[in-house]
Amino acid sequence: MISGKMLEALNEQLNKEMYSAYLYMAMSAACTSRELKGFANWFMVQYQEEMAHAMKFYDYIHRQGNRVNLMAIDQPQIDFESPLAMFEKTLAHEQFVTGLIHGLVDLSSEENDKTTKDFLQWFVKEQIEEEETAGGLLERVKSVDDSGEALLKLNTELADRVFHPPKPTVD
Ligand code: FEO
Repeated sequence: MISGKMLEALNEQLNKEMYSAYLYMAMSAACTSRELKGFANWFMVQYQEEMAHAMKFYDYIHRQGNRVNLMAIDQPQIDFESPLAMFEKTLAHEQFVTGLIHGLVDLSSEENDKTTKDFLQWFVKEQIEEEETAGGLLERVKSVDDSGEALLKLNTELADRVFHPPKPTVD
């Protein structure tokens, strides 16, 4: 059983994951308009990952016998100065999400909700990977010229990213 306070926080996180998906979709669109199809693909896979994160919260709330509360999704930034600006924003956003997840873990402790705390462990680990990936790509984008050959090479590499649906958090 989830407390009212925990349920509200989980619903808010569902919304934040949907917002994350929307933000990466906006970045994908910005890359498409620059003819950077590989970057666009990378951000669209990121969009798919965020939708999968949102669905984990959606499923968990239902499996705990509650109803989801679907709140309005904020409009994301749609214009970006460069791919570098996008990866700076990506890393900052993932660091922000890590803070949100840690806040949920703290709340689950306060509410003595061991089941939710256990459910959240998948996200704690996932955020390590999210920050690591975003930080790594940010460093690579920093090292290439904005319109140079190296950027196009990275663009080709990022075209290979494929979405792998995560395993269910609760079997
Ligand atoms: Fe759902 Fe990128 O964290």
